[in-house]
Amino acid sequence: MTIMRCDNLSKTFQTGEYAVHAVREVSLGFEPGGFCAITGPSGSGKSTLLHMLGGLEYPTAGKVYYEDNDLYQYNDNQLSLLRRRRFGFVFQAYNLVRELTAYENILLPVMLDKKKPDQAHIDRLVDMLNIGDRLSHLPGALSGGQQQRISIARALANKPAILFADEPTGNLDGVSGREVLALLRLVGQELGVSLVLVTHDLSIAEQADRIIRLEDGRVAADSGDN
Ligand SMILES: Nc1ncnc2c1ncn2[C@@H]1O[C@H](COP(=O)(O)OP(=O)(O)OP(=O)(O)O)[C@@H](O)[C@H]1O
Ligand SMILES: [Mg+2]
Repeated sequence: MTIMRCDNLSKTFQTGEYAVHAVREVSLGFEPGGFCAITGPSGSGKSTLLHMLGGLEYPTAGKVYYEDNDLYQYNDNQLSLLRRRRFGFVFQAYNLVRELTAYENILLPVMLDKKKPDQAHIDRLVDMLNIGDRLSHLPGALSGGQQQRISIARALANKPAILFADEPTGNLDGVSGREVLALLRLVGQELGVSLVLVTHDLSIAEQADRIIRLEDGRVAADSGDN
């Protein structure tokens, strides 16, 4: 059973006379609740693939299905609704709103959805991510690791089915990077969220259940493919 799959997914960027084939005919399935790492050298198409899986970037060719729904058949409204309700995103840059407190940042996706926060769920996230004493701070007053933990809580506030993370530890030193990764794994497991994580760091990729290696836009190796 898969929660998400892509078929012959391709992305070509046209810049002037040059065409860059960032992703070439990639077909993959993702199991619910799994932790999958996408790795490969710089420029191999990791971010582009992640963005297309997450409904953030239209493919040039091929399909992405979330629970058998063809993502790019949706109109913009339907797609952003799906993203907001079923997907969570964590990026290398924490992308917190500087004028809002940590707590307000966490609640932002719930507010955008005009829903009442599930307080027990939010409390649990705050607890697991160990950010309870930082909630009234503005992002500028937080360390990188703390900001990333806030952004993870924000990504999970709407109880997504899939969490997409692109180099989430890229701006952190070794210790806080490992801590953030351990927390990502923990919350993923505890909440049953599927994790798709892009990293060029092999020591991070090795902690996943499955490692997909991209080279030049193609799947060069897939430990889940047996
Ligand atoms: N918006 C864009 N316009 C033109 N080319 C792009 C665009 N985005 C990505 N590319 C190109 O597509 C290729 C794949 O880029 P991508 O960002 O997916 O690689 P990556 O594996 O995430 O690399 P990194 O590890 O450095 O983040 C690269 O050659 C890149 O220059
Ligand atoms: Mg990238």
